[in-house]
Amino acid sequence: MLDSSLIAIYPGSFDPITNGHLDVIERGGRMVERLVVAVLRNAGKQPLFSVQERIAMLTDAVAHYAHVEVASFDGLLVDFAFERGADVILRGIRAISDYELEWQMALMNRRLRPRIETVFLMAREEYSFLSSHIVKEVAQLGGDVSSMVPPAVNRRLQERFRPTLRSTPTGVK
Ligand code: PNS
Repeated sequence: MLDSSLIAIYPGSFDPITNGHLDVIERGGRMVERLVVAVLRNAGKQPLFSVQERIAMLTDAVAHYAHVEVASFDGLLVDFAFERGADVILRGIRAISDYELEWQMALMNRRLRPRIETVFLMAREEYSFLSSHIVKEVAQLGGDVSSMVPPAVNRRLQERFRPTLRSTPTGVK
């Protein structure tokens, strides 16, 4: 158990948030006093959802956690963490394939700000195959992702990829 007076930042693209992310928020949030879920604003990748949409989905998904806040940042993560007085960067890790990039980021972040520790949580088995990328691909191809994302995210994915299914023509029962 970490020291419960700690502040942690949980950074990511969250395009969109999945149940795997939510699990890290739930379990990581229990170990700290305050958890800031931070959406990266200036990602080079072409996101499906705007930062505002991603923040709205995250805010909805964490609304019942009083000590979890949603924010966005650009520039260096460690600078944002420092500005927010954070002691810890929280990251979830799934398979070995995540390890190399996470290792590189954690060591770079430590070099830049040695007092901020990166803490990894192992993804729960049932979420260890999940990623925002694969969820988007399956949703786009008409697959059911309702057990993999919060309900509001599922709705937005449906609206984005299946807009016609949601509108009933006038006069049709
Ligand atoms: O959800 P993701 O895409 O795996 O999150 C990656 C993220 C946002 C944690 C990472 O790209 C990041 O921290 N970007 C901010 C820029 C930065 O600080 N880079 C140097 C440290 S690696």
